[in-house]
Amino acid sequence: MAIRLPLVVANWKLNGDRQLLTEMVQSIKELDAEKVETVLCPPYVYLNENTDGVKKGAQSVAIQESGAFTGEISGRMLRDVGCQYVIVGHSERRAMFGESNDTVAKKVLATLAAGLIPILCVGETDEQREAGETIAVITEQVKSVLDVLPNYSDSIVIAYEPVWAIGTGKTATSEQAEEVHLAIRKILAGYSQELADLTRILYGGSVKPDNSEELFSKENIDGGLIGGASLDVEAFTNICKNAV
Ligand code: G3P
Repeated sequence: MAIRLPLVVANWKLNGDRQLLTEMVQSIKELDAEKVETVLCPPYVYLNENTDGVKKGAQSVAIQESGAFTGEISGRMLRDVGCQYVIVGHSERRAMFGESNDTVAKKVLATLAAGLIPILCVGETDEQREAGETIAVITEQVKSVLDVLPNYSDSIVIAYEPVWAIGTGKTATSEQAEEVHLAIRKILAGYSQELADLTRILYGGSVKPDNSEELFSKENIDGGLIGGASLDVEAFTNICKNAV
């Protein structure tokens, strides 16, 4: 079985402040970085704060590298302030900001072009799961990116976030999550076995300290993408410890 370093990512969304950032950085620094990789994704305005060697990422990125695109932030700028990761295609971006699979694929390419690592978010809605369309939806979302990847040696991360579990307290069971993660791993293997072996697949959707150990025990769940619980220092660091 391939060895993949567990990865836990905090997605603060439109939340947090400088005080919380300082407290979270202090707590993350006490974790064993050789056993779990931790990435903090605060709102853009906090990315230039001193995070003392704690890895940081952005919650989105512009397709364009520069130009007349008011309000946008490019991958080059994110790298300039020390970002290493970018969350791309979060369901909230897809639903509220009209990001299509094509737009998401272009943002993945922009992320890679800036030398950053994309965290590609995929996931089905409640209606799609009820209709038995989960694997078909995930397959289309993953393939729309893999079909345009310049090469398969680039490092990417995939996050399976069932839309019906985000912010609802209704977490997928570890069996439900593992089923989709295994399907994603098989899609990756269809392109490159090395890509399948090396790509970390995270679960996101109401991950908490009390459910994270069971989720992370599954072979194809390599960590988590954490929303609400990442705004609580103790909860988030306990989730990270459960990924070890
Ligand atoms: O990106 C992570 C987020 O969508 C999950 O949110 O609050 O369900 O952990 P939450």
